[in-house]
Amino acid sequence: MKKVMLVGIDIKTKEELVALLKHVEIFSLKTYTEKLDPPVSYLVDLIICGPPQDSTPLQMGQFLRMKNASTPMLYIYRDRKTLKCDRSELIQNGFTGAFLLPLERGTLESKILELLSSPDLPIKQYHPVKLIDLEVGTKYNFDIFLYLPLNNKYVLLCRAETPLDSDRIDQLKSKDVSSIYLRTQELQKFYDYIGEKLRSLGQTRSEFYTETRDKIRNAVRILLNDLFEVSLAPGNRSAQESLKHLQEIIKSYAMSTASGHMYERFLVFTSDKTDSYSHSANVSTFAALFSLGLGIGMPEELAAAGLLHDIGLIDIPEEIITKSEEKMTTAELRIMASHPELTLDILKKKKLQVSDMISKMILQHHERHSGKGYPKQLKGEQITAEATVLALADRLDDLTCIGPWKKVHSLKEAVWALEQSGEFSTEFLNKVLELFNCEGRRN
Ligand SMILES: [Fe+2]
Ligand SMILES: [Fe+2]
Repeated sequence: MKKVMLVGIDIKTKEELVALLKHVEIFSLKTYTEKLDPPVSYLVDLIICGPPQDSTPLQMGQFLRMKNASTPMLYIYRDRKTLKCDRSELIQNGFTGAFLLPLERGTLESKILELLSSPDLPIKQYHPVKLIDLEVGTKYNFDIFLYLPLNNKYVLLCRAETPLDSDRIDQLKSKDVSSIYLRTQELQKFYDYIGEKLRSLGQTRSEFYTETRDKIRNAVRILLNDLFEVSLAPGNRSAQESLKHLQEIIKSYAMSTASGHMYERFLVFTSDKTDSYSHSANVSTFAALFSLGLGIGMPEELAAAGLLHDIGLIDIPEEIITKSEEKMTTAELRIMASHPELTLDILKKKKLQVSDMISKMILQHHERHSGKGYPKQLKGEQITAEATVLALADRLDDLTCIGPWKKVHSLKEAVWALEQSGEFSTEFLNKVLELFNCEGRRN
């Protein structure tokens, strides 16, 4: 059984960690200098530390690192002010990673599961991916493999730059598109290929409009297909992997557009801001994919708005962010409602220029069809279609990710939950369900 040591973790955080760390033996220390009896308890698989009472996080990191040369150590904190140093200094002083709660809970959970997963798993050489256009004559710039489960072997189906012929396509279709494999080192080529393919489809002009729209919808459907009905929680590795592929495809897509250099700046800006950006990365990916699939707005703008939309939360006090909106007082709700505006202030201060549409999406991402959103209680048509797509992506990530005291939905259940809540119009949600070839719960 794996062993985890918690050092200086408050009760609330401990409860959350215990719920996550099932089938793991847990030791708790109040302070890192506490004498261990027997000292052998230091031989654990992971150490998770909270802010020390009587010294600095750096002293704590150095001390524990001296005792444990190779055990991964994570530092978690709820109040930015207690950090008293840069996160890079924490890493230099022995920690493996640092996470601000609750903002980075999702990434922390993935990291813990990754660190506790068996170290002797073989390094994966082949990755399953989904190809979006199986047409005679298509040339891919990577080798395509099939996996034969009976022999536990990967066989080359189509060499790079060789056109797919109809026999091979039939073979692929009979195996189901999701079971195509690529070499790990060729994954970037795959992301770039799909990103570019989606972009070129999006640029096809009017006379082929209907046909192209069908192709794009189909492509998005294929890409999202195996994620629709499963849990996206960190424990579901294949879903996490598919999500990661989608993020890379959207990154590649957005970077290849005219505003690609801006997008790259946003990526750098958001990643070094929090060290991890799982919520914004997921929202960015979902928003761009739904923009493509529903034919609303420019996917690269949705991707950018997704990355940036919640930066303003940094200026909202911890105790407000950790509450659910139903439990907030009117004053707290007012403060929370200012975060879209605060996001724009931060972008302005950092001289990160965004288009009018991106600003509008950020400002309206908590407005709701029913008029019960914030900050302006806009209703129905008053909300820009693009902002509705961003809001959908934001809600879907929220409903599908792990959190204390909440049910984790699959994407399909999440759309059904939104049907009940009245946050989005029935017409809009029907289009989303149509994209997945799925019926609503009301039907
Ligand atoms: Fe938000
Ligand atoms: Fe958000």
